[in-house]
Amino acid sequence: MIKIENVYFKYKNNNTQVLDGLNFNINDGEIIAIVGKNGSGKSTIGKLIAGITKLKKGHIIIDDIDISKNYNLIRDKVGIVFQNPENQIIFNNIYDELSFCLKGLDKNEINNRINEALNQVNMNNFKDSDLYSLSLGQKQRIMIAEVLAKKPKYIILDEPTTMIDTQGKEEIYEIIRELKNKGYTIICITNLSDEMLLADRTLILNDGRIVHEIEKRDLINSSEILKKYQIKEPTLLKIVTQLKESGIHLNLKELSINELVDAMKGIINEKYN
Ligand SMILES: Nc1ncnc2c1ncn2[C@@H]1O[C@H](COP(=O)(O)OP(=O)(O)O)[C@@H](O)[C@H]1O
Ligand SMILES: [Mg+2]
Repeated sequence: MIKIENVYFKYKNNNTQVLDGLNFNINDGEIIAIVGKNGSGKSTIGKLIAGITKLKKGHIIIDDIDISKNYNLIRDKVGIVFQNPENQIIFNNIYDELSFCLKGLDKNEINNRINEALNQVNMNNFKDSDLYSLSLGQKQRIMIAEVLAKKPKYIILDEPTTMIDTQGKEEIYEIIRELKNKGYTIICITNLSDEMLLADRTLILNDGRIVHEIEKRDLINSSEILKKYQIKEPTLLKIVTQLKESGIHLNLKELSINELVDAMKGIINEKYN
């Protein structure tokens, strides 16, 4: 479990109070979405939890350890993937890239971890490809594999699909769902409202604080809150809301496109059969 307690944060060269008394918990096995306007401090939260930016005031406690007391341990437990894979790639060779952070392990262990990580992101067929020949989406999957090879418990994805085309986005969403099934805890920082539907819980960040925590099942009734914080409503919820306004009530639990299609088919069959 990750506990964020009374975290305040300002950058040295910038007088803005970026985080202003941040408090929230992340339970094991959960997918959390963090949304909020540009510049609201989402990436700062990610970097603080990953131990890349040092905490100055407040506490971040990961599995009962205060990270300010043991940054090394936290780096093993938490992996982070950023928006632009091209800023993170060091090597052209996929094996070199993935093994870079595994120095110190024996060769067999390194190979096993790399194979397993590439399988988890469906990139095993590209093992011998040059990284620079891959699409952005494929590069991002390699960046996710790089994190997985380090065997973290918590994975932070900071706008992982913002730069990636629609097909590439879907492939990454599928990976995120599978990682949740495998028991990973995932923090998905996003400015794409549809990605809230991947999460068990959405946190809205505004003026340096979490102003709302919305469980997935309550998203459907949260249009006003989302509007208030200038967060676009996920497309699927918009469709459900508009259908409701025309008298068609759908009771969706998963909030997936498949579920929506099944519900619509049910209604059409009832009407015409
Ligand atoms: N390295 C930095 N130095 C100074 N100010 C920064 C730095 N990184 C971010 N900021 C500022 O901190 C605020 C929050 O940034 P960020 O966490 O990147 O927000 P978000 O990810 O929500 O867009 C912004 O006002 C941004 O300009
Ligand atoms: Mg950001």
